[in-house]
Amino acid sequence: MSEQPILEVKNLSKSFGKFKVLSNVSLKIEKGQLCALIGPNGAGKTTFYNVVTGRYRPDRGSVLFEGRDISGVQTHRLTSMGLLRSFQITNIFPALTVLENILAPLVVYHAKGYSFLRAIKKQPALADEAKHILGRVGLENKWDQVASTLAYGDRRLIEIALVLACRPKLVLLDEPTAGMNPEETDRMIKLIKELAGRSETTFFVVEHDMKVVFSVAEKIFVLNQGELLAEGTPEEIRSNQKVKVAYLGGYLDAKG
Ligand SMILES: Nc1ncnc2c1ncn2[C@@H]1O[C@H](COP(=O)(O)OP(=O)(O)OP(=O)(O)O)[C@@H](O)[C@H]1O
Ligand SMILES: [Mg+2]
Repeated sequence: MSEQPILEVKNLSKSFGKFKVLSNVSLKIEKGQLCALIGPNGAGKTTFYNVVTGRYRPDRGSVLFEGRDISGVQTHRLTSMGLLRSFQITNIFPALTVLENILAPLVVYHAKGYSFLRAIKKQPALADEAKHILGRVGLENKWDQVASTLAYGDRRLIEIALVLACRPKLVLLDEPTAGMNPEETDRMIKLIKELAGRSETTFFVVEHDMKVVFSVAEKIFVLNQGELLAEGTPEEIRSNQKVKVAYLGGYLDAKG
């Protein structure tokens, strides 16, 4: 028997007013399986993340995290349970140094069991831990720089480090390479693969860049107009006629 899925979404629907954004979406993600969610602009990918991570309540359906029903559980509770997300735009503290950005969630994390004050007193140890986390994303030499002064690609790495500082079990990444140049994109691809291969964290990535999707994902889900159009291995998705028509036509043609 395999372990239970880390994430299982059953018959999820969400409307905004009369506009149905998600229709009866069901999917399962196994622990350690690097999955991607793709689909045209407005397909409902970010909304799907928003519902899974507690920003919106589903109208119908349920979300199970490690077998436990978390539908409607608030985002901060999910964070402490180990379910986190990143955003389509950078979401860091621009005026703080790189190290301070990572210290903030660590202090909160360590304050869980006892007082916030004691967590702050442990700061030298926390700074070491923060530097270790920065090392995992390749920012160890930039720890003392103010976040806003860093290149865009580095700022997005701070965001990954921020997420890792919360010791997540499952991370949903919303367009981690959006706005990046080809070099930054390659670095992000390498990082996601490395983190997914070596850590206890499972990653689920929304991405428009098909180079990223096809080089990292073990399994791909395709969302189209709020419905799950297909799921499968990269090879299965590449050769799926429905996906080709709805979304991948241009990309596959360009690839020959
Ligand atoms: N809070 C909201 N209120 C009303 N409509 C919304 C809300 N959030 C999203 N939508 C609509 O739902 C649809 C899906 O949006 P969503 O952001 O989930 O798409 P997406 O797949 O992430 O698109 P993109 O690839 O452009 O990021 C869009 O038509 C959007 O305008
Ligand atoms: Mg989106």
